[in-house]
Formats: sequence, structure tokens, C-alpha cells
Amino acid sequence: MEALKGLILSGGAGTRLRPITHTSAKQLVPVANKPVLFYGIEALVGAGVTEIGIIIAPETGGEIRDAVGDGSRFGAEITYIEQAEPAGLAHAVLTAEQFLDNSPFVMYLGDNLLRNGLAGLVETFKAESPEAIILLTPVDDPGSYGVAELEDDHVVRLVEKPEDPPSNMALVGVYLFSPSIMDAARSLEPSWRGELEITEAIQVLIDQGRRVRSEVVDGWWKDTGQLGDMLEANRLVLEEIESRIDGELDDSRVEGRVIVEAGAVLKGSVVRGPAVIGADAMIEEAYIGPYTSIGENVTIRRSEVEHSILLAGATVEDLGTRMEASLLGRDVRVVRTDGPPKTFRLLVGDRSEIEII
Ligand code: DAU
Repeated sequence: MEALKGLILSGGAGTRLRPITHTSAKQLVPVANKPVLFYGIEALVGAGVTEIGIIIAPETGGEIRDAVGDGSRFGAEITYIEQAEPAGLAHAVLTAEQFLDNSPFVMYLGDNLLRNGLAGLVETFKAESPEAIILLTPVDDPGSYGVAELEDDHVVRLVEKPEDPPSNMALVGVYLFSPSIMDAARSLEPSWRGELEITEAIQVLIDQGRRVRSEVVDGWWKDTGQLGDMLEANRLVLEEIESRIDGELDDSRVEGRVIVEAGAVLKGSVVRGPAVIGADAMIEEAYIGPYTSIGENVTIRRSEVEHSILLAGATVEDLGTRMEASLLGRDVRVVRTDGPPKTFRLLVGDRSEIEII
């Protein structure tokens, strides 16, 4: 079989992580201080797939190009493919027709994270040459995903975001395809949500009696499209980091697995891992609790932060209460000042969310 190409989908609108994704791509939100998208690129390269096309949207494509570059630092060769509008996953495949050039390929949704990589799947695909391999995993809320109906481990039907799910087995955002998916995608009409659904394209293959193999994911999988999932992905990835202290500890203590990047300074603080403190961060008289990722150049003073993701340049000062399960965007400031008691003074962007507990 000829070499598989990779197709990562990093277009789309990212409506569910607004306001973070108003101005930036959801695939670049960091998990353990590394953009979600980079995990996908690394997983493909780890499986020997180095010729990778990335689908980008006109609004956020520039930022993705800047972050990923030509791919050389991942050992990949990247081609960017602009999709004019987010018209669906199968539409993205059609948009990539020229790049794919009749090769078999791995399609990877840019906001997905898979614990155990792709090497085993690529091996299976090469050994058995099915028309497609899809990945499944049991979930609590199948109505939010594509769902498979199985008969004796055999997929008989796939439905996208069903109101009445036929099972709890959701489609994971990683697919291996032979070129026949192209004709199947071309035959589709837009779904009720106005998209060309890859789920329906795979159903076309099934209806044609072609071999569609399903595998249940081993290890965890996360779709990071929503805040809770993003925090959970952050927790799962931090769970496996190895300690490394390259920054400076001044009258401070770290417990458990903690990474402190170069240039970060901890003064009179406690960090209880697993946690990562980004380069040039300043942590002063603060407590950083488990499952927290602190980005570059973040400042935290006289505050407690736990189970949260703080993007580069954010500032948290004098909170007085613990902040948890939070995602702060770049350069966001959350500070308590000595104003009149029991008032909030807010300057908050469109569609932000503030919960006072
Ligand atoms: O995460 C798994 C789920 O992904 C599957 O269970 C569903 O069957 C599948 O349809 C998909 O559902 P979502 O509704 O979560 O897909 P989403 O719109 O979040 O898009 C997934 C990725 O693809 C995301 O990185 C954005 C990108 N995308 C999306 C669309 C609609 C594109 O690049 N172009 C598009 O047109």
C-alpha cells in the first residue's frame, strides 16, 4: 500500500469555546501548555505519517500557520488547505482532494486528543486494507456525537448527533480512509445542520457493502470543544508528566509532579502537582493546586488557583478566594483592588462567562 497521508481538520467556527475562540483557533488552546493541535501532529508523525494537510478557516488560518510553520520541527511536511466556510467534515475532505491525490489517509479532527497514538491503527489499515477504519468509545452523552449501531461488533448504521441514540458508542475524531471516501462525500446532501457529514459518507460505504472496520479506543480520548472537556484533557495529560525544575524556587515548595520552565520564578509559594508553570511566569505568595497549567509570562500573586488553564500573559492577584475549573485567555487580568466593599468592577469582552460562587 502506498504511504498514508494525514489530514488534520482545524477549520470550523469554535462556537462552544467562545470567547476564547472569538479571536483565536480552538485547536490552539493549550493543554499542559502545548496547543491541542500539536498532539495530533505528533501522533501522526509517531505513526509514520509525515505528509500532512491541515484544513484551516479564513479567520483563524493565519494564526495556525504561525504556530505550526512548515512542520519541520515536528518532522512533518505541512500543506495548508483553506476551506472557505465550515460546511462539514466531508466538505473538508472534498476541499483537500488535490492534496490527497487518491492516497489513503488518516483524518484527524484538530480538537481531539487520543492517549495511545495512531501507530497500531495505521499498521492494521496497511495489513488489512479495509475501505475505512473508524474508532469508537463508550460515552455518557451519545447525542452529542456521531453514534454507531452495532450487530456483533459489526457497524450496521452510523447517525450524527441522534436524538434517540441507538447505542452509547460514539465516533472518535480519527478515521482511516481509502480514496473511495471521496466519491461517497461527493454523493451527499447537507444534513439538518447544513453540513456535509463524514458520518453519512461512511454510511454510504457501508450501504455499498464495503468493508468498514471499527475499533474501540484503548486509553482515553477527549474532544476538547467545550470547557469541561478541555479541563479534563488537561488533567489527563498532566497526570503523565515528569517533574522538571528549570526555573527558580525562592522560599517555595513543589510537591508531586511539577514542571517549572526556565525563567519562571516562585517566591514564597507552594505548587502541588501535577502542574506546569510556563516560562517567565511569576508566582508570588500563591498556592497552585493540582491539574493546573500556567502559561508563559503569567503572574499570580497572593491567590490560590487549581484545576485551571491560564493562557500566556494572564494575571491573577489578591483574589481572596480560590479560583478553580477556570480557563483564562491571553493577557486576561483578574485582580482584587481596595475599592468599596462588595462591588465588582469588570471590563469583560463579548460572550465571556463569569460565575460567582
Ligand atoms: O469529536 C468527535 C465528533 O466530531 C464525532 O463524534 C462526530 O461524528 C463528528 O461529526 C464531529 O462532531 P463535532 O460536531 O464535534 O465536530 P466539530 O464541528 O467540532 O468539528 C471537528 C473539527 O473539525 C474541529 O477541529 C473543527 C474542524 N472542522 C469542522 C467543520 C464543521 C473543519 O475543519 N471544517 C468544518 O467544516
